[in-house]
Amino acid sequence: MTTDTTTQLPPEGRRIAFVGKGGSGKSTIIGFLLGHFAAKGIDAAAMDADEPGDEENGSLVEWSEVVDLAGPVYPAPSRSHLRDRAAKLTPAHGILAIDTGAWIRKAGNTHYAVLSAVDLVVLTLAPTRMELNRAGSVLAALDHLADVGAHCPRLVIALTMVNTSAASGDETADALRDGGYTVLDTRIPRSDARDGYAQVFGRVPPIVTGSPMDKLADELLAEVVR
Ligand SMILES: Nc1ncnc2c1ncn2[C@@H]1O[C@H](COP(=O)(O)OP(=O)(O)O)[C@@H](O)[C@H]1O
Ligand SMILES: [Mg+2]
Repeated sequence: MTTDTTTQLPPEGRRIAFVGKGGSGKSTIIGFLLGHFAAKGIDAAAMDADEPGDEENGSLVEWSEVVDLAGPVYPAPSRSHLRDRAAKLTPAHGILAIDTGAWIRKAGNTHYAVLSAVDLVVLTLAPTRMELNRAGSVLAALDHLADVGAHCPRLVIALTMVNTSAASGDETADALRDGGYTVLDTRIPRSDARDGYAQVFGRVPPIVTGSPMDKLADELLAEVVR
């Protein structure tokens, strides 16, 4: 799908924000996606709108300072400039992925600035009841934008940290789809193995065709070209 998709992305490119609870895998996913998009011939960059210090591993910017993530990672400007800067930093015919800090109870203003700057929002969600309850505030924020007539990006939900031997992934996906939400087919499994996702921060992400991260890249491309 490499060449086709590239030609379908508009000259101004597309922007995708990743929101969700701290620890749901946002930064790790973006680290992989930069490599997978590049491998498909798509120019990709990232903007890091995370507030420093609220997660174990550090930020996407810090990761990009120790290894080549296959695309540039820019720190976010102040929120009043975020939307313009994001547009300028989006590669032509390419993708800008925006990482955000933990979405705790209610969104901060930076989160709203990010939502106003993107075409697509990916909510990363571990499939447990507790996480599902917390996700309500993200969904409410998007409803609020729609209600006040503000720019409201489309939302898709990516199940992350999925225990592939448990039924919770299917149950959560069914419940969300019944509620009218779009749940991506691709699920990112929890992987704590020595060469797994849990260990990749600070290293070059392995780019494997057909892997969950590769499929996620394909699904997101399909979402933003349509
Ligand atoms: N699929 C996964 N399986 C297991 N551990 C993961 C996975 N994705 C990320 N991690 C680990 O979980 C922690 C949170 O991931 P991170 O990407 O920083 O989440 P976020 O950016 O949403 O806070 C990190 O220690 C990371 O290495
Ligand atoms: Mg993060």
